[in-house]
Amino acid sequence: MERHQLHVLIFSASVLAALLAYGARGSQYTSAVGDPGMRRDGLRVAFEAWNFCNEVGKEEAPGMGSPRAADCFDVSSNSTLSHKVTEEVNRLGVGKPFPGLSREALKDPDKYAVEKELYLGSLCEVQDTPRPWHFWMVMLKNGNYDTTSGLCPMNGKKVPPFEPGRFPCFGEGCMNQPTLYHQPTELANGRKLRGWFNGTYDLGASESGSMSYYEVVWEKKLGGGGWVFSHKLRTSKKYPWLMLYLRADATKGFSGGYHYDTRGMLKILPESPNFKVRVTLDVKKGGGPKSQFYLIDIGSCWKNDGSPCDGDVVTDVTRYSEMIINPETPAWCSPKGLQNCPPYHITPDDRKIYRNDTKNFPYGAYHYYCVPGNAKHLEEPYSICDPYSNPQAQELVQLLPHPIWAEYGYPTKQGDGWVGDSRTWELDVGGLSSRLYFYQDPGTKPARRIWTSIDMGTEIFVSNQDEVAEWTLSDFDVLLTSEDSDLSYEPRMFL
Ligand SMILES: *[C@@H]1O[C@H](CO)[C@@H](O)[C@H](O)[C@H]1NC(C)=O
Ligand SMILES: *[C@@H]1O[C@H](CO)[C@@H](O)[C@H](O)[C@H]1NC(C)=O
Ligand SMILES: *[C@@H]1O[C@H](CO)[C@@H](O)[C@H](O)[C@H]1NC(C)=O
Repeated sequence: MERHQLHVLIFSASVLAALLAYGARGSQYTSAVGDPGMRRDGLRVAFEAWNFCNEVGKEEAPGMGSPRAADCFDVSSNSTLSHKVTEEVNRLGVGKPFPGLSREALKDPDKYAVEKELYLGSLCEVQDTPRPWHFWMVMLKNGNYDTTSGLCPMNGKKVPPFEPGRFPCFGEGCMNQPTLYHQPTELANGRKLRGWFNGTYDLGASESGSMSYYEVVWEKKLGGGGWVFSHKLRTSKKYPWLMLYLRADATKGFSGGYHYDTRGMLKILPESPNFKVRVTLDVKKGGGPKSQFYLIDIGSCWKNDGSPCDGDVVTDVTRYSEMIINPETPAWCSPKGLQNCPPYHITPDDRKIYRNDTKNFPYGAYHYYCVPGNAKHLEEPYSICDPYSNPQAQELVQLLPHPIWAEYGYPTKQGDGWVGDSRTWELDVGGLSSRLYFYQDPGTKPARRIWTSIDMGTEIFVSNQDEVAEWTLSDFDVLLTSEDSDLSYEPRMFL
């Protein structure tokens, strides 16, 4: 009897310990990602590079192929790695066929990249419930825009070339894709798994001697711990605006910023307010004053009437919300800059505070809010989001650390989570995002806030000197906090 009780005690203590270690605090969570907490030995990671309007444009880096690649493998019981994607496949580029490639994509660099991602997904796919998943996605983006190229649409509409000056561009070729080098994951000393992607946008020798650089290294102890992703991003004179993120994207349909079918890690799409994000972030170098470091960035797509996106870029609107943790990022939203604030703020107890309520509105909690360029019923004053940098119109709600976010476990003061303050966050992203303002046409049914992309990383925004950002990310998980999560939801596809 006593022995039995002791057993029960030990059992429940260890269960409790496990739950606590998992941050679950007694209640049961379901993970929305294929690899909860990044703990699976058999890694799935992919790479994608985008130009200013989230396309490829030209496959300009010689011999690199289409800027999509993957490192996916399983570890067998004798500790050998069986890779799913060969370097030959990673180097595939326009003109080179692969299984499933459509004829129209064969010669079109944009469409080719899309279909290559689907092909890589098919090679990396892991069977799971409620549906299979593919990979974490390393996303790299170059903010140069050659306005004389006419390459990027305006709010989803094709527009003619225009005079340079508004965007960085050193001249012809400024929208090129980077070089990509890859060390396929290896097992060292039978104990440590390690691999990397790296490269530069500077294809020739740079005049100033400085070269842009990106690097993502992944490491894990075989059979224990979790993956640690170490990132490095350096801007150069010719490439002053660069972005590097690690994304958990939808396994199907449109992820934030895309207008085509993608592959990813979110086997269940989280919906506000019922999810949290857990992640450990250690920022080692901030990347200078212009580095908009996103502790978390969430992306989705819905139309201004609240209906889900369907690939019609003229009416689809990408919606983003980001918490920027660089303490050098000012609040552009202020009593004198109301156009940079959302029309209102909603408190955790659901009170609405209008931005003209200067006594109560938390101006310091908002870096910048901008409206979608295709919105028809805007409240003055407003600022319109950049119409060129996404395939469709976009809306941005950019947050800063502030005491009003405490309820959601977000940073509450400048410096939280920044260099020297490495933390494991458990962010109530669902709760917070359910109370953010997003534009909708008056009288329309509120959109379901279902997020197709959750990512972390930095956007070094037009820096006038070469800057370096360095950080590690681990333990990434998306936890569903309600039994009623909609496991069946899939974004619609446009074909
Ligand atoms: C390890 O196992 C794999 C697959 O089971 C096999 O192909 C390989 O030859 C084995 N390697 C060694 C060194 O035993
Ligand atoms: C990528 O990393 C390797 C190994 O550390 C290094 O030799 C190489 O120079 C790096 N590539 C670039 C473009 O710097
Ligand atoms: C503040 O804004 C709200 C919503 O736009 C408006 O109804 C109200 O009249 C404004 N109050 C003042 C004092 O301007």
